[in-house]
Amino acid sequence: MKKIISFSGKGGVGKSTLLVLMLKYLLEKFDNLDILVIDADPDANIGDLIGKEIHFKETVSGKMTILKDKIQKRQIPLDVSKDQIIESEVFEALIEMDDFDILEMGRGEGSGCYCSVNNTLKRIIDILSKNYDIVLIDSPAGLEHFARKTGRNVTDLIIVTDPSKMGFHTMERIIEVSKEVNLLFENILIVGNRFPEDLKNLLTERVENIKERNVRFLGLLPNDDEISKMNLVGENLLQLPSESKTYKTAKELFSAII
Ligand SMILES: Nc1ncnc2c1ncn2[C@@H]1O[C@H](COP(=O)(O)OP(=O)(O)OP(=O)(O)O)[C@@H](O)[C@H]1O
Ligand SMILES: [Mg+2]
Repeated sequence: MKKIISFSGKGGVGKSTLLVLMLKYLLEKFDNLDILVIDADPDANIGDLIGKEIHFKETVSGKMTILKDKIQKRQIPLDVSKDQIIESEVFEALIEMDDFDILEMGRGEGSGCYCSVNNTLKRIIDILSKNYDIVLIDSPAGLEHFARKTGRNVTDLIIVTDPSKMGFHTMERIIEVSKEVNLLFENILIVGNRFPEDLKNLLTERVENIKERNVRFLGLLPNDDEISKMNLVGENLLQLPSESKTYKTAKELFSAII
């Protein structure tokens, strides 16, 4: 089993929440699985959801900033290639939790910087994915990173949408853009989050209209006040009770993938 699963969709639809629920599911279901979580969203922090404070200097961007400084001060040996240096900095940035690792990309300082981090991301996924059984990627909202082909090596793309026109639109655009730039995902899986059962048809019909063989509807998760509350008071979402109805539904959805 080697999977690289990326969560995408419009801003605020529940990408990070679903990633953490999947992480919880994987940790409960499998022993000794090497799991890496890559937080590639510069505007959010997966650490917030799991009660782990991550400082800028621990992020890839943070390490790169220090590296730039060293290069300017000519503190880097001349016989080492730029790629080798970046690689070693990436390994430095791995944050080890008890049962999984996190790589926090962080926000670049200045507009040019995040772009270079974005480019680095492609290589990082290549390098790191070899060492893990499962890589979960929290993508930034929107389309830009698909256009940049950051998701090139992803096996399963999960697109999350809420019951909104913009959510559906972003879902469809992600699929179109991925096709345009030739990103070949094994599976594209659509999840409706905070989605009432009685609106289900509206989503399944839209998904059926997408004529790509690898696209399918995975299921719905309801709005759950317990999840909102845990987020609001800063509780670790991995500690959502296993009896939670939403978690049980999430497990059913995920078991169809892994
Ligand atoms: N099923 C749900 N029930 C109730 N609240 C939810 C549910 N899913 C997500 N939320 C809440 O919605 C908010 C946004 O969720 P989340 O941060 O996971 O979205 P996101 O897509 O990662 O957002 P961003 O684009 O900003 O990264 C959070 O406060 C989260 O707790
Ligand atoms: Mg997020």
